[in-house]
Amino acid sequence: MSTLHTWEKVDAYLTERLIQQDSILDRVLANNKQADLPAIDVAPNQGKLLNLYARMIGAERILEIGTLGGYSTIWMARALPEHGKLITLELDPHHASVAGHNIALAGLSQKVEIRVGEALEQLEKLEEEGTAAFDLIFIDADKPNNPHYLQWALRFSRPGTVILADNIVRKGEVTNRHSTDPRVQGVRKFIDLLAEEPRITATAVQTVGVKGYDGFAMGIVKS
Ligand SMILES: C[S@@+](CC[C@H](N)C(=O)[O-])C[C@H]1O[C@@H](n2cnc3c(N)ncnc32)[C@H](O)[C@@H]1O
Repeated sequence: MSTLHTWEKVDAYLTERLIQQDSILDRVLANNKQADLPAIDVAPNQGKLLNLYARMIGAERILEIGTLGGYSTIWMARALPEHGKLITLELDPHHASVAGHNIALAGLSQKVEIRVGEALEQLEKLEEEGTAAFDLIFIDADKPNNPHYLQWALRFSRPGTVILADNIVRKGEVTNRHSTDPRVQGVRKFIDLLAEEPRITATAVQTVGVKGYDGFAMGIVKS
């Protein structure tokens, strides 16, 4: 029988076998805990998945919406070439400050820029600045805004850009069309948009593990 306990054991096994022990990432998670950040960062094997995706597409420019303490940021930024750039958006100045410290610890400050404030405002600013298209966009902030983040992601894309979004299953609640949870409704609108938007082709998968039962969506921009 599958239980959270089994999922945790399997995650621990896979992580122990396939993810190298990493003192910097361990310290990042310890710093986050010490600074009272919620432990809602991606799991180690999911962080590595983000890193592999970035490497598979040779990403040079990455946009992340939702930094927290920079754990996923570091996984992705490590995949960048020397001249690569990652911009990450974070509402909470405390989270951003912890992330800044962690990113410096990982030796990635040259490649990573943290922008503090409402992501929707930061995205508008990026557009005003005429930012170049991104190769990979990771949406992982407030779920009610996911449909808006997807629209922005499409604006900052080129054919071939990969768009990922985390936490789209929400313990299965995503199928509950009557849910009163704005996060569930945000994810449902996001999935609708993915289904209807002709510029992107997408899929989504359920995941289980140390972070419980959830899932992520992934699409590639066609035109
Ligand atoms: C799930 S956490 C991000 C986890 C991170 N990507 C990781 O895996 O290490 C979501 C983050 O989004 C931030 N956030 C929430 N609403 C936001 C908004 N409107 N604009 C920007 N950031 C927001 C939260 O403060 C939080 O730090």
